[in-house]
Parts: sequence; C-alpha cells; structure tokens
Amino acid sequence: MNWANQRICVTGGAGFLGSFIVERLIERGAPEQRIIIPRRRDYDLTREVDVERLYDDATPDVVIHLAAEVGGIGANRTNPGRFFFANMAMGLHLIEHARRRKVRKFVQVGTICAYPKFTPPPFREDELWNGYPEETNAPYGVAKKALLVMCQSYRQQYGLNAIYLLPVNLYGPRDNFDLETSHVIPAMIRKFWEAKRDAAPAVELWGDGSPTREFLYVEDAADGIVAAAEKYDGADPVNLGNGREIAIRDLAKTVAAAVGYTGRIVWDTSKPNGQPRRCLDVSRARELFGFEARTPFDEGLRRTIAWYAERRTAVLQHGG
Ligand SMILES: NC(=O)c1ccc[n+]([C@@H]2O[C@H](COP(=O)([O-])OP(=O)(O)OC[C@H]3O[C@@H](n4cnc5c(N)ncnc54)[C@H](OP(=O)(O)O)[C@@H]3O)[C@@H](O)[C@H]2O)c1
Repeated sequence: MNWANQRICVTGGAGFLGSFIVERLIERGAPEQRIIIPRRRDYDLTREVDVERLYDDATPDVVIHLAAEVGGIGANRTNPGRFFFANMAMGLHLIEHARRRKVRKFVQVGTICAYPKFTPPPFREDELWNGYPEETNAPYGVAKKALLVMCQSYRQQYGLNAIYLLPVNLYGPRDNFDLETSHVIPAMIRKFWEAKRDAAPAVELWGDGSPTREFLYVEDAADGIVAAAEKYDGADPVNLGNGREIAIRDLAKTVAAAVGYTGRIVWDTSKPNGQPRRCLDVSRARELFGFEARTPFDEGLRRTIAWYAERRTAVLQHGG
C-alpha cells in the first residue's frame, strides 16, 4: 500500500482511536488533504443517504471504518437498542456502498465484545462463534460481529477486499473521561484523581474486582490497524492486543498508586462485573502482518494520567 496515492476515508477519525490512526497515516506518507474525516454533524452514517453523499464527496480508495457508538458497561446497559442499531446500520451502509463503488480496501474495526461470554483465554479468533457474548455488551458486540459475516460474504461474492480486526480494550491519552460513558481505565483515573483532590477516604468501583481484562495502548492499536491496512488482505478476523491479562482488582491498585491516591477502594457488588475474563491470543496478527504491541502498561498509564492532569488544568484555567 503506497499511502501517497490513496484517498482515505477514516470514519470516526476525530475520535479517540481515530485521531491516532490519522496521525500514523500521515507519518506513513498519506497526504493530509487526501484523508477525509466525516464528522457526525455533517454525515450521520446510520443514514444510507448520508453514506452515499459521503462516498460522492470523498471518492475514497480506502475506507477505515471506526465510527461507532460505544461505551462502558453503564452506557451499554442504558442503550442496548441504540448501540445495536447505530453500529449495525453504519457498517451495513458503508460496506454495501463500498462494494457498489469498487472501493479498493475496506477495514472494519470490530471489538473484543463480540467474543462469547465464557471463551477460554487466551481468546483465539476461531472461538468467535462458540457462544453468545456477555449480556451487557451483546447488542454492540453482535452488531459488530454481523459485520464480520458481511465482510466475508462480500469478499466471496463480490471480491470486496474487506478485512476485519478485533482490538481488545484500549486506553491512552484523548480517551473519554465522562463517567457516564467511559471505559474502565479513564473512569478509574478520574475517580482516583478527584478523590485525591478532595481527600476522600474511599473510592467506590463497580463489581467485585474479580474479572480480568487486557488493555492495549491506543497508539499501539493505531500501529496495528495501519499495518493490517497495508499488509493484510485476507478473510479471517484478526485480534489486536498484547496478550497480557490483569485482574480489575490489581488494575485498581495500580491506577490508584499511579495517581497517588492512598485511600480505600470499595467494591459495589450490586453493579455488574461484565465478562469474567478477557485476554487475546495475539499470534495471528504477528504472523499475518508482523504486529506486536510495544508500549509497557506502566508507561502507557503514565502518559494517560499526564494527559488527563494537563487537560484538567487547562479546563480550570479557562474557567470550564
Ligand atoms: N475504545 C476502545 O476501548 C475500543 C476497543 C475495541 C474496539 N474499539 C472500536 O474502535 C472504534 C473507535 O472507538 P473509539 O473509542 O475511538 O470511539 P470514539 O472516540 O467514541 O469515536 C467514535 C467516533 O464515531 C463517530 N460517530 C459516532 N456515531 C456516528 C454517526 N452516526 N455518524 C458519523 N460518525 C459517527 C464520532 O464522530 P464525531 O466525532 O464527529 O461525533 C466519533 O468520532 C470503534 O469502532 C470501536 O468499536 C474501541
């Protein structure tokens, strides 16, 4: 893939992961003016007419589809119907019109939430269809998983070069720190940061702390997606992660220490745990396009906290 010659549409390119992907594309030689980032206020990609208008305006050679309605357990529980519809509809229209317009490559970004609830770790891609996902994120996960079937069947019937990637939970600078919709790491950073500031004796967290998770630093995820876009042209889904499993209880202690919070951690067991264990087998990405995560967790966490602290200070200085 010679990025200099491509017109690239990055849906969700202004979001958390998307902003790093756009930076990587430019570093890899893509001219900035050839990267099209459709904003939701201009193109509502759940609407077919808007998707057609986007393709008319952008005439892309490559589409990297990241736009999604996403969130942590709370947001998934509040919006199961909306998350199913929005994620299904966006992919459905974007892939169908990519095939009609003979887009050269379509990169669909899926999610670890597509895996069955009780997948034995490390999750191998071949386990994807061996059960139903964990209930709280199933509507989002199943909508995304249906797009895997769409990519594979469009490749088979129409020759659309559509690939499908499954990133594990991401974290890093520019993440969403809104407690209503955030994922676990930004939620913990914010809670501990505010508790330290207020000298609060305890911080309450959801669940009992027993589940395990894997976290991929967002810039590593961007490297993996760009590497796959450049080098991988197959039908098989591919995990993107680092293969390291950590218990939420240990994660909480690590984040609290990194933020400098020394109070108690209290587990609210009336709240759901989510999927019991999560950890990916990452060998396929290494074999197919040489991807390996590089950023140690402590370093990624340090950068994330530094970004958050700086942003908080900036907001306060500007009276926000
Ligand atoms: N974050 C994670 O831990 C994680 C893990 C695995 C997979 N993923 C996947 O990675 C992708 C990016 O996630 P993210 O965390 O970076 O999300 P994000 O920051 O919330 O960004 C999502 C983007 O989607 C766009 N979008 C949402 N609805 C849209 C609509 N109806 N029409 C047009 N654009 C719309 C938004 O555009 P505007 O900015 O214009 O509103 C936003 O920039 C998603 O596909 C997600 O499933 C994320």
